[in-house]
Amino acid sequence: MIQIAVLGYGTVGSGVVEVIETNKTDINKKAAEDLAVKYILDLRDFPGDPYESKVVHDYNMILNDPEVKIICETMGGTKPAYDFTKQALLLGKSVCTSNKELVAAHGPELIKIAKENHCNYLFEASVGGGIPIIRPLNYSLTAEHIDSITGILNGTTNYILTKMDREGADFEDVLKEAQDKGYAERNPEADVEGYDACRKIAILSSLMTGKNVSYEDIYTEGITKISSADFKYAKQMNKSIKLLALSRDTENGFYAMVAPFLISRDHPLFSVSDVFNAVYVHGNMLGDSMYYGRGAGKLPTASAVVSDVVDCARHQGKTIMCFWDEEKVEVADVTGARRKFFVRIPAEKREAAMAAFGALAEVNVGLAKEFAFMTQEMTERDFDEKIEKIGGCINRIRIMA
Ligand code: HSE
Repeated sequence: MIQIAVLGYGTVGSGVVEVIETNKTDINKKAAEDLAVKYILDLRDFPGDPYESKVVHDYNMILNDPEVKIICETMGGTKPAYDFTKQALLLGKSVCTSNKELVAAHGPELIKIAKENHCNYLFEASVGGGIPIIRPLNYSLTAEHIDSITGILNGTTNYILTKMDREGADFEDVLKEAQDKGYAERNPEADVEGYDACRKIAILSSLMTGKNVSYEDIYTEGITKISSADFKYAKQMNKSIKLLALSRDTENGFYAMVAPFLISRDHPLFSVSDVFNAVYVHGNMLGDSMYYGRGAGKLPTASAVVSDVVDCARHQGKTIMCFWDEEKVEVADVTGARRKFFVRIPAEKREAAMAAFGALAEVNVGLAKEFAFMTQEMTERDFDEKIEKIGGCINRIRIMA
């Protein structure tokens, strides 16, 4: 019997307990040993909950219990999750987490501590919720040189953009509706400003390079400036707008970014709608592969945490290799990246734009006060200089090739 402790009895933590209970026959068979939840750590009490008797408030009870071999950290945030995780790993207890903030901030250090103490720090649920993406990068694609990852990694923003696309609604209205329905947080900043997707692409980029990509080095732009007019133009161009998180290993160095992009109908990420996430990976031998599913939610995320628990149970006393060193990756400036841009400017700047950009393709949806166009391919630096020269724009959106 392997005893487990769950830290944090919120959405994901209660999901972990539910997954272990619901699928216990399958899970125990796959783990080759029976798994049981012995403790649930939370500040609150849960009177009437079937697991009420397992709730404890003192973390030391878990640390000091030699029967507890695996800990599921589903608290979120870095405090006290960082200290709790480190203390557990130093005692040789494996930790499985859904906590992307902690993995992005301290992943390589915690992986190293786990290795030194013959246990595991696993984080399948930290990116893409229930979608298997950490394991494919870590095990399945080890024969590949991965040169590009493109992901829709945030369910909240994908839901908002999908609604804006389908209903022609504006950002603020859809956000409010999503909050009222409980799909978006009351404080939506981490999602709508792209910070959540930034943490997730930092984790994937680190696994892609085998070194540490700091989330602080990743250029991040959210979706708050996207309007219903932008979607009108997108439709006219047979495209949609998605918040993409990408990593590129190029001749000019490695870079990663999060920003809204226009993508065409024929791009595999075009059809990833609502709260769904997807990760599109390019390797030099395999070519393209895509991983799709529910990127958030209680049971999908908990399922990924429990899959890590099963892996820990199968590898007791052994560390599963994870190639994520502490050495920092030099992240190149995005200003050197080349792409086409879609631009909206006030109508009176039309001549100036034609002079600055040369060949451009007009996009007309009948908004008389403005002039909109697609540029030729150019570097972000060139683009910024030209826009500055004409005195700014109403909005600009990058176009995915
Ligand atoms: N807020 C996140 C999202 C939850 O909307 O995708 C999953 O990390």
